[in-house]
Amino acid sequence: MTFTVPDRELRTLEDRVRTALKNADGTGLGVLGYGEVTLVLSLETEHGAFACKRLPVFPTRDRFERYERTLAAYLERLENGGVRVAETRLWHTPLPSGRIVGYCVQRALPAPRLCSRLLHTEGELWAEDFFARFLDQVDGVVSPSLGLDAQASNWADVGGALVYLDVTTPLMRDTRGRELLDVRLFCTSLPWVLRDAVRICTATSIFDKFYTTRGVVLDFLGNLHKERLEKLIPGFLEQANARLARPLTAEEVAAYYRGDARMWEVIQRLRKADRFWHRTVRRRTYPFLLPPDVDR
Ligand SMILES: Nc1ncnc2c1ncn2[C@@H]1O[C@H](COP(=O)(O)OP(=O)(O)OP(=O)(O)O)[C@@H](O)[C@H]1O
Ligand SMILES: [Mg+2]
Repeated sequence: MTFTVPDRELRTLEDRVRTALKNADGTGLGVLGYGEVTLVLSLETEHGAFACKRLPVFPTRDRFERYERTLAAYLERLENGGVRVAETRLWHTPLPSGRIVGYCVQRALPAPRLCSRLLHTEGELWAEDFFARFLDQVDGVVSPSLGLDAQASNWADVGGALVYLDVTTPLMRDTRGRELLDVRLFCTSLPWVLRDAVRICTATSIFDKFYTTRGVVLDFLGNLHKERLEKLIPGFLEQANARLARPLTAEEVAAYYRGDARMWEVIQRLRKADRFWHRTVRRRTYPFLLPPDVDR
């Protein structure tokens, strides 16, 4: 189901985002999701509804074009690895400063079809079948050079097929294990005190989990705690362990989640402090909209 990016409507949307940033108030924008990095907005047009994912602002055209190539390569490699990806277009517009604003645009899929939702609304049989399909896809595609952030909220079940949504942060590594993504740019939503720390970490460890089946599954299961779906973990562990060389345990999943949740909590607190600093002390626009507090 191919589509044309609604250029005029996106321009209007971007104007509204800039106003919202100026006022540090995202109410009325139609936020579909606050990612750790991107802001996902819904856009209704006469040609249908779209999910528009605003990327960090690119300081130069060159860096935008590099992102464009990385994204295209990522989409192609996922498809070649058997993962069905929601059709994604990259739209961009220059800012008065010459910097570039980009959005990944997809058709908006019906919210009740998101797998994070279906795991709540469907029964055990659906969950088991979903997880079997999930494991097939993850195992078929993940490699030391191709990663996947496979949380339940990043998949939709459309017409019986799993569709992957979260492509804004392409996870690919070169032969020496370095991220192809402009990690530096994608860390700009983090408070400056953390940027160096994160840059050092991302060079190695915190992305590692996305590049092995075991890591992806551990992250998926850990996130079920956040989604209040702990009751599914024992069954899923059994399914996953039938395939993993080194089995996972419920304790490992819980410990992983505690670590991950704490990390994001700290980041979120620091972001708020950073926004306060921007707005109150430096009297500048804080360039991100922050999610409401998540109950972890
Ligand atoms: N095409 C879509 N249709 C409907 N809802 C969507 C679509 N894409 C994203 N969403 C909603 O927005 C949420 C966030 O989107 P997505 O996973 O792409 O970005 P993200 O998690 O913010 O990425 P990151 O954390 O890497 O910045 C999804 O979990 C889903 O609820
Ligand atoms: Mg996501």
